[in-house]
Amino acid sequence: MARILITSAIPYINGIKHLGNLVGSQLPADLYARYARARGHEVLFLCATDEHGTPAELAAAKAGMPVADYCAEMWQVQKRLSDGFRLSFDHFGRSSSPQNHRLTQHFAGRLADNGLIEERSERQVYSNADGRFLPDRYIEGTCPNCGYDRARGDQCENCTKQLDPTDLIEPRSAISGSTDLEVRETKHLYLLQSRLRDDLRDWIDRQEGWPVLTTSIARKWLDDGDGLQDRGITRDLDWGVPVRRGDRDWPGMEGKVFYVWFDAPIEYIACAGEWADAQELSQSDWERWWRTDKGAENVRYVQFMGKDNVPFHTLSFPATLLGSGEPWKLVDYIKSFNYLTYDGGQFSTSQGRGIFMDQALELLPADYWRWWLLSHAPETSDSAFTWEAFQAGVNKDLADVLGNFVSRVTKFCRSRFGEVVPEGGEETPEDAALIAEISQKVAAYQDHMDAIQVRKAAAELRGIWVAGNEYLQAAAPWAAFKSDPARAAAIVRLSLNLVALYAGLSRPFIPDAAEAMAEAMGVAPEWPEDVAAALHRLPPGAAFRTPDNLFRKVADDERDAWQARFSGGAA
Ligand code: MF3
Ligand code: ZN
Repeated sequence: MARILITSAIPYINGIKHLGNLVGSQLPADLYARYARARGHEVLFLCATDEHGTPAELAAAKAGMPVADYCAEMWQVQKRLSDGFRLSFDHFGRSSSPQNHRLTQHFAGRLADNGLIEERSERQVYSNADGRFLPDRYIEGTCPNCGYDRARGDQCENCTKQLDPTDLIEPRSAISGSTDLEVRETKHLYLLQSRLRDDLRDWIDRQEGWPVLTTSIARKWLDDGDGLQDRGITRDLDWGVPVRRGDRDWPGMEGKVFYVWFDAPIEYIACAGEWADAQELSQSDWERWWRTDKGAENVRYVQFMGKDNVPFHTLSFPATLLGSGEPWKLVDYIKSFNYLTYDGGQFSTSQGRGIFMDQALELLPADYWRWWLLSHAPETSDSAFTWEAFQAGVNKDLADVLGNFVSRVTKFCRSRFGEVVPEGGEETPEDAALIAEISQKVAAYQDHMDAIQVRKAAAELRGIWVAGNEYLQAAAPWAAFKSDPARAAAIVRLSLNLVALYAGLSRPFIPDAAEAMAEAMGVAPEWPEDVAAALHRLPPGAAFRTPDNLFRKVADDERDAWQARFSGGAA
């Protein structure tokens, strides 16, 4: 049994996330957390809202609310939706927590003590039309690296390069669109990341088996002359973690806050503190996950994120941790994702294009979305959501294969033998062949889950469902019943055991259906450490209940109506 720490990139507080966001971090993280727990590992799975910075301020202003109230309300909304999608976080925290304030100020103090923070007079963009400095996302312009014309002041979405607002070509205010901008002097703190280049390179060189997507982005910015340039870590904003040096004031920094990308990853650690406080545990209970001098040397730490987040997790955050000189746990494996496209274009929060988490749950239960999204996770390249593909995936995999299997075997058994597992005859070579086939597929499924190969794992699980279906079709107990009822009973017994097995195996993907299958079979969903034994788990005479249909089909007219409704533009 291992101890596994799992974090998902923490979603921005501003607004409800779309399905592309979901499949890029939180959902696969949940899949892995559920799997790891099922295999008996000790798991701590953390997520939180990312509440500081310009996105939060802009969204609160738009909603006409004080930013603290806005964040408190949106945290509730995101929490409710993550519960709706059955995301099994051990704690869903907030980057605005007192724990994160303290820890962020602590890290800044340590970095300063180690000579890694410098005060610099900075030239910063000031908007005459708006009467204020324009940090980060308050400013847009053309990326100096790739020419993308809607790059933001903190990062280019197109090429993932981290930017400073003054890097942008032809900058304009994101508040007013004004180009009447000037550069003024103001004092800020800079993290001297470049001094950690060798440490970071050594650390990245030591990693084995990271996804190519992760290492290629990390190396690109590590080797690129200015990918690791010193970064401003303070901003002229009201909302955020006030700049302090540990628990001391920082003269000259009054009224400034830390940059959101400085405090957000620190929330991964602070969230463990929030978790411990919420559970009434002690400091050592969370430190054993995060401090290698207090037990975390035995922890495997896995992070999940979209590709735009990779530079912050391979360079900036490790720089904070290494630069502190304290024994903090560094990530062991970074699973990163490409983008999910929507109906031939992009998901767009601003244009309301695509499906958002709240809307998805109004249409269909979580399992439908979880299955489709995970089985189409954008791992090796971007992947495309289309309503046709969604309908096909749901109708085929869930309704025709899994749902139909469960329904056929339970209804047939009920009508011929009643709602108890029948005694039946000896197993035949046909049964033994199925058991061997399922055992071999389960081993492959586990290998893919261990490697966090999400699509391959989904394909293997689907194959396990298909094998049961094909077995039932070929063995045809409804035909056998006439000539050889004992044989029919044996087929049904094995098939009912398959339902119980499917409950355990399917649970990381489709937790609600898995619960329903297990409950119908009168067992708890368990991981089959020994498949042959698991397929004899339900003894003859055990009672079961015929469940309601597990999945319904998506009809063509429904699909067309949804497609029209979510095409964007319509308010
Ligand atoms: N909020 C960021 C995003 O959605 C992710 C922050 S991850 C963390 O892109 F590392 F900062 F925590
Ligand atoms: Zn760019």
